[in-house]
Amino acid sequence: MAAVNISGLHSHVGEIVTINGWVVTTRSSGKIAFLVVRDGTGYVQGVLSKKEVPESTWATFAALTQESSVSLTGTVRQEPRSPGGYELGVQAITLRGASPDYPITPKEHGTTFLFEHRHLWLRTRRQAAVARVRHEVVQSIRDFFYERGFVLVDTPILTGAIGEEAGNLFATDYFDLGKAYLAQTGQLYVEAAAAALGKVYCFGPTFRAEKSKTRRHLTEFWMVEPEVAFNDSDANMRLQEEFVSYVVSRTIERRRDDLKELERDTATLERVQPPFPRISYTDAVTRLCELGSDIQWGQDLGGDDETLLAQQYDRPVFVFNYPRQVKAFYMKENPADPRTVLNNDCLAPEGYGEIIGGSQREDDYDKLLARIQEQGLDPEVYRWYLDLRKYGTFVHSGFGLGVERTVAWICGIAHIREAIAFPRQIHRLYP
Ligand code: 4AD
Ligand code: MG
Repeated sequence: MAAVNISGLHSHVGEIVTINGWVVTTRSSGKIAFLVVRDGTGYVQGVLSKKEVPESTWATFAALTQESSVSLTGTVRQEPRSPGGYELGVQAITLRGASPDYPITPKEHGTTFLFEHRHLWLRTRRQAAVARVRHEVVQSIRDFFYERGFVLVDTPILTGAIGEEAGNLFATDYFDLGKAYLAQTGQLYVEAAAAALGKVYCFGPTFRAEKSKTRRHLTEFWMVEPEVAFNDSDANMRLQEEFVSYVVSRTIERRRDDLKELERDTATLERVQPPFPRISYTDAVTRLCELGSDIQWGQDLGGDDETLLAQQYDRPVFVFNYPRQVKAFYMKENPADPRTVLNNDCLAPEGYGEIIGGSQREDDYDKLLARIQEQGLDPEVYRWYLDLRKYGTFVHSGFGLGVERTVAWICGIAHIREAIAFPRQIHRLYP
């Protein structure tokens, strides 16, 4: 008999089926015994009565411990009091793998302990809910771009040029060619691809040796980076608001049960619809000072500034045209105010901070070369990148959305390390 999934039990009412899974809890009155089993698709209660099963089955039940793997065979019954609405009248139990002294018990554990046991912690309801939300976010990202005619271009992880900034590079020896850097971004490569294909995106892991411990930073995180030929900064922001709204509304629609498990109040997420408010960096600094921040024009927004500013709006907000000295070398100079660049950050509500960094790219050969030199970068390793400005230069723009920050925001979890199965942080490389 083929095993069925717990999520499919509704179509087997009255039949005898087998399910494979792991034991969550057991209890027994001495005559009647109950166990809850999960299989990744759901939870179900099994019931057995001492009178009706062979002694060996009763003995197998009695030896079960939390997270033993089992096969249960029994009759499917409708039972509103059982998790999932169905129950199994158990006739046979096969113990597949014992689980003595399972370390994660129903009592409260500290965060450090749980992250050391991340490989087991993933089995709990909350963590599985986060994983399913992330899965939906990733799928909705892919579908959004697929439906709009973007071509996926995979960019290298081993790179020869600094993508964002020198301060947080992971470097490794690369044969006779010196150092290779783990990609901080795929952006420079998708810019080249945009001249070939028009609308493109890359989507993969990116790496930054973040030395600070914050709830918004990982050393390895996933980023999606679209790049569009002939889009200016304004069109770039329109694409971002459409994109973020799509991802949020689709995820809350399809993962309602998981968000409920996470006790996420989705009212604030329902409001995520275009257009998003926009404020220039200069106006944002004025506003922040009115609100009590001591930020001065020319400084980057700190985490607290981002939170304070985002609190003024009921949906994500764009802050645009930052001072050039706080942003990367590739951003286009603002013709109306050359102290600033044509970029934007998108700040999520509820203290989640920057989820997107985007910009129009410097498409003038001389200006880009000057910026590269100004930042002390080696123009030789950017020769190919400068070529894009030499052969048919074009207005273009794009952005990067961080998956973990987005998932943390949608789930309403405090720290982004829970938004990825195996987080990498300055002090965490295990498991
Ligand atoms: O603003 P960033 O550095 O932008 C870029 O990398 C551009 N090349 C993107 C582009 O225009 N194609 O990073 C983009 C986003 C941030 O807004 C944030 O969501 C996320 O990536 N991010 C991080 N997420 C987790 N941990 C970190 N250390 C992160 N650094 C950036
Ligand atoms: Mg940024």
